Amino acid sequence: MTEIMIVVGTRPEVVKMAPVIWALEEVGQDFVVVHSGQHYDYNLSLQFIEDLGLAKPDYDLEVKEQSPTAQTGRMMIAIGEVVEKEEMGLMLIEGDTNTILAAALAAFKKKVPVGHVEAGLRSYDFRMPEEHNRRMVDHASAYLFAPTNHAKQNLVNENVWGMIYVTGNTVIDAVIQHMPLAEKRSDIMNRVKYSEYALATAHRAENVDDSRVLKSFASAFMEAPIPVVFSVHPRTEKRLRQHRIWNKLRVSDNVQLLPPAGYLDFLVLMKNCEMILTDSGGLQEEATAPPIRKKVLVMRRSTERPEAVEAGFARVVGTEKSNVLAAINEILEERKEIPLGSPYGDGNAGRNIAQIVKNELECMHKESGVRAESNHSEDPVLFKVPGGRLSSGSM
Ligand code: UD1
Ligand code: UDP
Repeated sequence: MTEIMIVVGTRPEVVKMAPVIWALEEVGQDFVVVHSGQHYDYNLSLQFIEDLGLAKPDYDLEVKEQSPTAQTGRMMIAIGEVVEKEEMGLMLIEGDTNTILAAALAAFKKKVPVGHVEAGLRSYDFRMPEEHNRRMVDHASAYLFAPTNHAKQNLVNENVWGMIYVTGNTVIDAVIQHMPLAEKRSDIMNRVKYSEYALATAHRAENVDDSRVLKSFASAFMEAPIPVVFSVHPRTEKRLRQHRIWNKLRVSDNVQLLPPAGYLDFLVLMKNCEMILTDSGGLQEEATAPPIRKKVLVMRRSTERPEAVEAGFARVVGTEKSNVLAAINEILEERKEIPLGSPYGDGNAGRNIAQIVKNELECMHKESGVRAESNHSEDPVLFKVPGGRLSSGSM
């Protein structure tokens, strides 16, 4: 029997689960890693595993591109088969993708407790598939690793029944641990055309699948008062080509299009930019990491990361070109100082989570020993977790 199953499926999950994996190794905890195959291109999946120095996943389920319903359903079946085979004590998942919804349901149906890393984020924007996923997963989880007190409060307000721990966000650990390596290994700056630039990404379904928003972003980048280096997610490239915007961006002197960058290259791109323009979740957090410290314009109607806004790093500017351009101008003019520390922790989130998991597994072993003695072995551990028990957390 393997103690822990870690399930990932997309690039941010690999980045944010890596510090948990390193920390589990440090404390000598046994685990298997499953990759759903939701992201399958080399530069969205295997490159991240290599850049972060991780072993190849024990299982690659290769579920790949499907309708969201088929994708989630097939992943649930495929992950369920591994859960049955491995008979593990705990599943760990991270974030808000279709992969983690499928994984949480597969574990829940097999009465395996789920630990949700980055629990409690809420955008209150129900157009977002991520908002559906994170809400359902939080309510199916036995252990909720909230990155901040704000996220913990969201969970308390919703009366989740798992145990809540405030741990910090593992994305900060990953930046701190990998920036020195990135600066040594990456040669991406030799390929960037500009000495000063804004770094852009966009991939949210409610943005790039809406041609009006997509055109607004493209025009903002072409007209921006600073050149824009745009790392293009495959979903976005597909839409840009479909709406015949790709070639306009390609020939614009103000925009440099890049394929999705590997993690090390992207760290260097973030470190050297003047500001970040994005609808990404992870970038809002990474921008606050001490080795990066950048202003972020969040090109969305909402954010589930209000801590970055309150700390003065991020600003939610919506998706209209005029608002994006006005905000870029303001940043260039004011050049205001931003804090030294991150609201997402000090880079120890992975260790905090690994220690909690180790302790909880030890408790489970003790409980199952007691149950075996008293002949109640069919009691599922999952339903023994009392609702909403709070730990003070270790951040
Ligand atoms: C997914 C997550 C999103 C996360 C993002 C990280 C969901 C609902 N969405 O969005 O929360 O922020 O990953 O990047 O889980 N594609 C490729 N190659 C790949 C992967 C995808 O070409 O390796 C293209 C395909 O055309 C695919 C489309 O991108 O249909 C969307 O991929 P999908 O994984 O469904 O969603 P993302 O937009 O990547
Ligand atoms: N990232 C990367 N290369 C890129 C774009 C993003 O390495 O070209 C990394 C980024 O540093 C962060 C993660 O991918 O760690 C964020 O992924 P994404 O924006 O796709 O997803 P989200 O965070 O919005 O779920």
